[in-house]
Amino acid sequence: MFQYKCLNPISQTGLGLFGDDYKQTEEMNDADAVLVRSAKMHDMELPENVKVIARAGAGVNNIPVDVCAEKGIVVFNTPGANANGVKELVLAGMLLASRDIVGGIEWVAHEEDKEHIDKLAEKQKKQFAGCEISGKKLGIIGLGAIGAMVANSATHLGMEVYGYDPFISIDAAWNLSRTIKHSKSLDEIYSQCDYITIHVPLTDNTRKMIDKEAFTKMKDGVVLLNFARDLLVDEDALVEALDSGKVKKYVTDFANATVAGRPGILVTPHLGASTEESEENCAVMAVKEVRDFLENGNIKNS
Ligand code: MLT
Repeated sequence: MFQYKCLNPISQTGLGLFGDDYKQTEEMNDADAVLVRSAKMHDMELPENVKVIARAGAGVNNIPVDVCAEKGIVVFNTPGANANGVKELVLAGMLLASRDIVGGIEWVAHEEDKEHIDKLAEKQKKQFAGCEISGKKLGIIGLGAIGAMVANSATHLGMEVYGYDPFISIDAAWNLSRTIKHSKSLDEIYSQCDYITIHVPLTDNTRKMIDKEAFTKMKDGVVLLNFARDLLVDEDALVEALDSGKVKKYVTDFANATVAGRPGILVTPHLGASTEESEENCAVMAVKEVRDFLENGNIKNS
């Protein structure tokens, strides 16, 4: 029998998510388990008796995993549970980078002469013209649950999909997505793809992996999508690549002072997993993992 306490008063889920506004109290030291979404736990004091932490999401970079390992605290994530939500936003990002949907909508909303808007609209067509993604080459860096789903959907939209993942063979990637036909090295992805999307975790090896050298190898006018983690991209090098036209559009789910409002950048405030379905899938998977661990001692990601 488990008791749940909500440590984050603004949480709507009632699942005891650990929020940024979490304050340590004595009562919380009784907690056996903590469920957390995006709150950064590195500077938080962990409940004294906690045995397990579950992250409702794929990345665990907001959890002090080294400290947890030292203390024998088990850490789970929820791989794949929000993959569809992220995939759909990535597809939307590719389309937004290709068609000036945002510019067109803003023009209609702000044009004052609403009475003649139909005639005026005809004159705007050229200004908002775009290109199609069908027939273009898409490079996917990281072929986990999200990368594989993006591959599948992009293929159905008529794109030619290339995948790269140092840990997954192209046969395994094929089994996952049934669509990645071309095995390519990272350099080949950089030099041949019109769109590049990153789906790797943030680690010491991947931090700033998209650096000046990587940008130099990319095609002129490439569209880069980053719905994984902002620190994967060296932002000084990104700004240079945007200014020179090397990168036509940078589409990201991570807002910060460098990217916010900058021309050539489309940015959303970390919405990839913010769908009803993804939130529920992550919450349910996290609770099952915790329960299975506390009741049966099982340690496995579902
Ligand atoms: C993830 O790592 O899966 C996302 O950061 C989840 C989220 O947006 O909460």
